[in-house]
Amino acid sequence: MDKILIVYHSEEGIIYKMAEAIKKGIESSNSFEVIMKIAEQANQEDLKAASGIAIGTPDYFDYMAGSVKDFFDRTFYAVQSKIRGSLTANMPCVFFVSGGTGGGPALESLKKIGSYFRFNIIDYVVSGPRIKEDILKKCELLGRRLAEMVKKEKK
Ligand SMILES: Cc1cc2nc3c(=O)[nH]c(=O)nc-3n(C[C@H](O)[C@H](O)[C@H](O)COP(=O)(O)O)c2cc1C
Repeated sequence: MDKILIVYHSEEGIIYKMAEAIKKGIESSNSFEVIMKIAEQANQEDLKAASGIAIGTPDYFDYMAGSVKDFFDRTFYAVQSKIRGSLTANMPCVFFVSGGTGGGPALESLKKIGSYFRFNIIDYVVSGPRIKEDILKKCELLGRRLAEMVKKEKK
């Protein structure tokens, strides 16, 4: 079964709940194995094995969490091939972010790094510091859309 990777960091649980909702959305397609890992534990093999990716972070000091940045730092060279170019080029990707004031700067930092990995960024969900039911619904839908996009890419 093809894999979709969810990589995230969460201290207070908001991003974790969003990750769980995205996982539920992906799994509703019955087409993918979801590999869900905190950023410290995710590695280049997880990224190489994935057909799609969801990346989540709280906004810390107007940037993504350090562990999420570290995941990108540790894996970047591993997904560059001299012959085939970027192995993550066009990989369907979604982001999910939370912050005391909405998480906009962290989202921008993800978009910037995502462009170096040449991900196909489909969409994102942002949350304030308290989780709301409508945000979880949006995350579930985001997961479903990610799965649909990966399916389309595979055809
Ligand atoms: C060290 C630290 C720095 C933070 N910096 C920001 C910030 O710059 N902007 C912001 O909107 N929220 C900031 N926050 C708030 C978190 O982004 C927010 O509480 C988020 O919802 C936490 O996600 P979590 O529940 O998944 O841990 C900061 C929190 C911490 C602990």
